[in-house]
Amino acid sequence: AQVVQAEFVKSSVRTEDCPSDGSPEFALVGRSNVGKSSLLNSLVRRKKLALTSKKPGKTQCINHFRINESWFLVDLPGYGYASAPHECRTDWAKFTKDYFLNRSTLVSVFLLIDASIPAKKIDLEYASWLGQNQIPMTLVFTKCDKRKKKKNGGKHPEENVNDFQELIRGYFQTTPPWIMTSSVTNQGRDEILLHMAQLRNY
Ligand code: GTP
Ligand code: MG
Repeated sequence: AQVVQAEFVKSSVRTEDCPSDGSPEFALVGRSNVGKSSLLNSLVRRKKLALTSKKPGKTQCINHFRINESWFLVDLPGYGYASAPHECRTDWAKFTKDYFLNRSTLVSVFLLIDASIPAKKIDLEYASWLGQNQIPMTLVFTKCDKRKKKKNGGKHPEENVNDFQELIRGYFQTTPPWIMTSSVTNQGRDEILLHMAQLRNY
């Protein structure tokens, strides 16, 4: 399930503009700055295929990357970027929700959740929306390399992951698959690629 070829194909602002060759695809979605572009780079073992930034809001379009000449990884703009103007935020919702509901070649959404901090309301709302709309979803916990100091009230990634799963129980008919990752240590990379390979073969 390793990546031997990866290339940027195109940026689209509407679902209709996305590549139309029918290849299966997986979308990386999550709060701005959660590490979507970094995870994509980790999966393809390239440092700068998808552009990343410390500043939230780096990715602004639907970006298609062709993998092994046969399927796509899709990097999406993040939600919940607090300093974005309000119109931008509604726009984001409209445009990505349209993509989730109408992109027929989308095999599964990979919802990224930052495991280094407690669950955020917006992530729970997003998971709930995906569940209500029966969009196939895999939970990907990011930044599992970050360890909080207990004495400052911080929780370890494992605890945040358990809390999050407890909170979304009830949004889904069956518990979504979940994977713990880090783009720093590449934890979870093989597991994600294997999971994607299995989903493509269903
Ligand atoms: P937008 O495109 O703005 O929505 O953000 P994004 O979700 O694509 O995040 P991006 O990959 O640009 O990463 C945001 C910041 O988090 C960068 O400074 C990354 O270096 C950092 N980061 C991403 N993944 C990890 C991780 O697994 N561990 C740690 N420690 N930092 C990470
Ligand atoms: Mg990005």
